[in-house]
Amino acid sequence: MNPGQDEYYVRVENLVTRFFTSKGIVKAIDDVSFAVKKGEIFGLVGESGCGKSVTASSIMDLIPDPPGRILSGKIYIDGFNILSDLQKLVTIKIKNETNVKIKRHKRYLKRHNLVLSKIRGKKVAMIFQEPFLALNPVLTVGDQIMESILLHERIEIANAIIRRETMGVDDIRAFTEQMLKLTDAEERKKAINNWVRNFGVSEIERSVIDLFDNQKDPEIIVREIMRLVQEERTGINVRNMARARDYYKMQDQLFSLNLKLIDAESRAEAEVMDIQQQLNNLMVEFIKSKGEEKEQIGKRIKELRSQLRQKRKQVDRTAIKQLRKEISSLRRKMNISFMGYRVKRVLLRKRMDKPFRVEARRRALELLQLVNIAEPTRVIDSYPHELSGGMQQRVMIAMALASEPKMLIADEPTTALDVTTQAQILDLIKELRRVTESSVLFITHDLAVIAEMCDRVGVMYAGNLVEEATTEELFFNARHPYTQGLLQSIPKLPANGTKFQKLQSIPGSVPNLIYPPAGCRFHPRCPYKMDICEKEKPRLIDVSKGHKVACWLYPEGGVIK
Ligand SMILES: Nc1ncnc2c1ncn2[C@@H]1O[C@H](COP(=O)(O)OP(=O)(O)OP(=O)(O)O)[C@@H](O)[C@H]1O
Ligand code: SF4
Ligand SMILES: [Mg+2]
Repeated sequence: MNPGQDEYYVRVENLVTRFFTSKGIVKAIDDVSFAVKKGEIFGLVGESGCGKSVTASSIMDLIPDPPGRILSGKIYIDGFNILSDLQKLVTIKIKNETNVKIKRHKRYLKRHNLVLSKIRGKKVAMIFQEPFLALNPVLTVGDQIMESILLHERIEIANAIIRRETMGVDDIRAFTEQMLKLTDAEERKKAINNWVRNFGVSEIERSVIDLFDNQKDPEIIVREIMRLVQEERTGINVRNMARARDYYKMQDQLFSLNLKLIDAESRAEAEVMDIQQQLNNLMVEFIKSKGEEKEQIGKRIKELRSQLRQKRKQVDRTAIKQLRKEISSLRRKMNISFMGYRVKRVLLRKRMDKPFRVEARRRALELLQLVNIAEPTRVIDSYPHELSGGMQQRVMIAMALASEPKMLIADEPTTALDVTTQAQILDLIKELRRVTESSVLFITHDLAVIAEMCDRVGVMYAGNLVEEATTEELFFNARHPYTQGLLQSIPKLPANGTKFQKLQSIPGSVPNLIYPPAGCRFHPRCPYKMDICEKEKPRLIDVSKGHKVACWLYPEGGVIK
């Protein structure tokens, strides 16, 4: 799939994530599929421990390993499956629940981590559930926001610095003419904001806005802007900056080629990977099974292993070889063209990084203002423990926005906050979605927050997605017994003159995911349980347009029993 062509920005397909602990294998995510459209807020809701955070961490490929691993599935981010090379990264040998051997393949892991480090933060960023745990206690807020900017935005920063240092009167005249044509003040403000960012002169933004508000003579405006720009110039060596930019551009090319290589490998080896994935899943089944069933699964594993060997021999590697050649040729070119630059970078790293850090700090300050932090100039040099919970949460949001990601994952961003701050943070996320047109995966256990924030919702139970619908449909026409139970447990204000009604709760408790119930995982708590529910797991099926349910009460086609 080509990036940008899909209506969905993120698609999760048949995700299986496990934690291999000393007590046994936690089946945390079991065959979960859903997708988030471009520009929408998709909510993920469910009781504590149902797998919301693990789903989010899987999308970021940040499952702590050990003990966790994504076992199988596909996660498309902007058209690229970040799990394309999953089966190459490790070999898993499972003897029993507590005896699991994982062999990591360093060569592939290194490439995978390199690619993911470029995707994380730039394409998808996450606001973590516990800001205090997610923020680094020994780095200032500014350093942490700048880290993300410096990782992803070096080419943009270098271009902005070059434009600032080389900007001439003609550039300013063209910009002035453009601005004078804009009659709408808000539109002009936006255009000025873009321009000052592009030219690395964000600090003169307020003066430029005032100038256009109060002055109509183009020549005076041009002269004044030129003066302001000259004050901002640092006299940096533009040729050196251009060299740095070209170096980072080549690194980006290398990244794109690596993406293509992973994609080509996964296409050529699709059947191999498929068998490997089946093998991994069967291994987990093998240890759970007993007697005759165990024997059957053992036989199937043997068959699959021999099929795997056969298929490996048949893979057509032409495209892969070609891409590998291109990568090594680009690497050679980089080594030759930038040998001197690289040596200098090692010796004079601090000095060469300074202009980037100055610009990154400027951008970090802007971000702190964007998330409504009072006194950003003080907060930027503060350590996380010096900030309140609400401020830490805003800092996390600023960090997540540092590289203008197209998708934001917000994992319970307001749970630890008081009601007023909670409302402010929710408004902020909604406003950011409106301004940046990015998608949001919003995770919460609070249905009231879902109702306020989300366009569509997925309901999770014990590592499964059990229902998916638009927010309105879910609240007025919930089909899954678990969702119905959740909705009945929301406190309601009594009608005039009547008493508060006792809250309804779902009987029983969340299952232990080391030994989850067979069939439908909700069956021990379900008032509608049937025989089949204990034996077979229901698939997520469409019961009406855009409304999916995984429950044996609703057969394929949506005709209710
Ligand atoms: N590092 C880990 N080691 C072992 N098990 C884990 C680990 N992290 C998560 N799990 C297990 O995975 C399951 C899903 O956990 P997850 O954190 O996703 O729940 P959640 O839905 O986010 O809950 P909450 O609403 O409390 O944040 C739980 O059973 C949890 O115990
Ligand atoms: S599949 Fe069966 S146990 Fe599960 S929710 Fe539906 S009726 Fe209840
Ligand atoms: Mg969580």
